[in-house]
Amino acid sequence: MLNKNAPIGVFDSGVGGLTVVKEIMHQIPNERIVYFGDTARVPYGSKSKETITKYSRQIVRFLQMQNVKAIVVACNTASAYALDEIEKETDIPMIGVVKPGAKVAAETTQNGKIGVIGTEGTVNSRIYSQYIKELNPKVSVIGKACPLFVPLVEEGLLQDPVTDEIAKRYLSELIDIDIDTLVLGCTHYPLIRSTVGRTMGENVTLVNPAYETARELKELLEKRELLNEEPVKLGDEKYRFFVSDSSEKFKRFANSIIKYGILSAKTINIEEY
Ligand code: DGL
Repeated sequence: MLNKNAPIGVFDSGVGGLTVVKEIMHQIPNERIVYFGDTARVPYGSKSKETITKYSRQIVRFLQMQNVKAIVVACNTASAYALDEIEKETDIPMIGVVKPGAKVAAETTQNGKIGVIGTEGTVNSRIYSQYIKELNPKVSVIGKACPLFVPLVEEGLLQDPVTDEIAKRYLSELIDIDIDTLVLGCTHYPLIRSTVGRTMGENVTLVNPAYETARELKELLEKRELLNEEPVKLGDEKYRFFVSDSSEKFKRFANSIIKYGILSAKTINIEEY
């Protein structure tokens, strides 16, 4: 029996999923959160579907042991490759970031040309294109893998000439084909939103799936009568963070993204799950 007071489990390959956590904290502030960042095995974006499914399954087992009441796959690559399979294996409601992002993109475009940037895995899966076209078959969706963005973010080079230069190279072809909407199809990318926005120019609307994901999560919890109505005090193990590699770097980074709530991050051996 799932319990209202139980935490929400959120996972990503590293720090990217914290952009989704931030939005969840904002939209449903009474919820407890258990976050897992797979910092030992990042990046996910260049790995196979089989590997990502195996990793995601291990993380879901770990989160189940934390008695979570819902799971947010705060990673586009895992949402693209593993969500369909792993959600069948548990009764815990699960939500990814791709469907919510696709919905916003389909609603946003005016000229019918949408760009999607993400990892190689997400872009090659063509999952955004599939979901967007289900909602609006007339639009064209152009994907562009940006594999260097994740290490740049993980290294903290959020405002750096190197990041500007790489962004120009990756994004020039999307500028040339005149897209009016660009999906930040990797949860790391909102952290370099200003660089991407500057490079694309003001006529392109950037879509960050995190907002809609948190909104749909709230709706899901309401529907299942799992929304926590009681305020939880911050110190009360409200937000707990776990990683698979050294926690110091993660903690520093996390504290710069989320301005409160990260008291500690614990390293676990995810291979045991
Ligand atoms: N942040 C993840 C995503 O949304 C994965 C980045 C990576 O590990 O390659 O796809």
